[in-house]
Amino acid sequence: MSASKDSQPMEKIVSLCKRRGFIFQSSEIYGGLNGAWDYGPLGVELKRNLKNYWWRVMVHERDDVVGMDGAILMNRAVWKASGHEDTFSDPMVDCRTCKARLRADQLVQKKDALQCPNCGGKDLTEPRPFNLMFKTYVGATEDESSITYLRPETAQAIFVQFKNVLEISRKKLPFGIAQTGKAFRNEINPRNFTFRSREFEQMELEYFCRAEEGMKLLDYWLEERLTFYENIGIGRDHLHVKTVPDEERAFYSKGTYDIEYDFPFGRQELEGVAYRTDYDLQQHIKASGKLLDYFDEETKKRFVPHVVEPSAGVDRTVLALICEAYSEDEAPDEKGKMETRIVMRFHPRMAPVKCAVFPLLKNKEQLVAKAKEIVDVLRPHMNVFYDESGAIGRRYRRQDEIGTPFGVTVDFETLGEKDPALRDTVTLRERDSMKQERIAINDLAGILVARIS
Ligand code: GAP
Repeated sequence: MSASKDSQPMEKIVSLCKRRGFIFQSSEIYGGLNGAWDYGPLGVELKRNLKNYWWRVMVHERDDVVGMDGAILMNRAVWKASGHEDTFSDPMVDCRTCKARLRADQLVQKKDALQCPNCGGKDLTEPRPFNLMFKTYVGATEDESSITYLRPETAQAIFVQFKNVLEISRKKLPFGIAQTGKAFRNEINPRNFTFRSREFEQMELEYFCRAEEGMKLLDYWLEERLTFYENIGIGRDHLHVKTVPDEERAFYSKGTYDIEYDFPFGRQELEGVAYRTDYDLQQHIKASGKLLDYFDEETKKRFVPHVVEPSAGVDRTVLALICEAYSEDEAPDEKGKMETRIVMRFHPRMAPVKCAVFPLLKNKEQLVAKAKEIVDVLRPHMNVFYDESGAIGRRYRRQDEIGTPFGVTVDFETLGEKDPALRDTVTLRERDSMKQERIAINDLAGILVARIS
């Protein structure tokens, strides 16, 4: 039986991530850098599987969406026009007692007074805006004229390329432009592992439409996105939809939903789905003087499209996948004694390694040769791991702990030594149920591809 979600402290998850090579602290040997993380050999596979599946569902499987890949550095004028230079800030407070810098919404309300969450001090400065964009200089001179910022969202590249993409793709409304990529925010307090980082990745779609379609498409995209999370193994029972109230919504948005997930540290946002009206395109029209509009061939009228934006965080979703997958159950060891098994129950579609291949014994040449042949057959279709060291039960456990959904064992029956009818068959073990079935080697690739895609 798997343990309940609430009983999984984050420490166990963070420790597994380091131990098994999912996520490391950035610059660890120098003491780290707050808010920056490196993905190890398994983490990078998980992240790629997520981004590739998002791209497949949002771009390849649709007629009405095309992709792009914008630069991280953009003209400063973009950030002036979008409003980020003036208003992309969080209210910051200093605690005069312990000198902590805090986001105002992290202060603790005790009776009538606000307190510092670190030291309980009540001697706090007034909140003042702290701009979250990382400033940088382009070129050899560091003065006002060379300032720009690392992008704090990927979306603006889509808005400023709207006309180019519209012209070359010849799409009719409604249609979307999708993009994944890095974004940077100088968060006052990065926290909860990778959840709030200073460098992270986004997966954003800007779906352009007519004004009258905006509210309906907002609901449509909410449903599409909820289905996406289910299809990567995050159950609806751990997802929540928050209708963002008027006072919390950006002033230009006519409707926003937050898709939230029950992380071990609380319910937190994974993705925002927002109806942003025509605000962004209008801002860039005003600032650049260029016509970012749409010509309707039926009515022969020009107008500026509205936009619905599902904007998801890659790192947050990876963290949700890891939290959702983590579980402990009981399984028999080599001698049949029950022991605790850590198992990452990743959806096969997301699992970093899809299939492990084991020769039963490493000192039997024929078993090893057959297992390596199977690796060669599977490798063009999926990420495969070959392991010949240690008892077979231990090898299964190692794969359970990294969430490999399938294990193939080459044994003496594969060689036809016991029963010629079983020659060129292997056992296929399923991670969650630990059930084993006998499969012909010739059928293996087809069966596995169907289960992981
Ligand atoms: N273009 C809209 C936009 O950027 P947002 O709600 O600020 O909207 C979208 O960000 C998503 O990006 C969030 O739902 C979250 O998943 C991710 N995100 C934002 N800030 C983040 C941070 N500091 N660390 C990790 N992910 C972050």
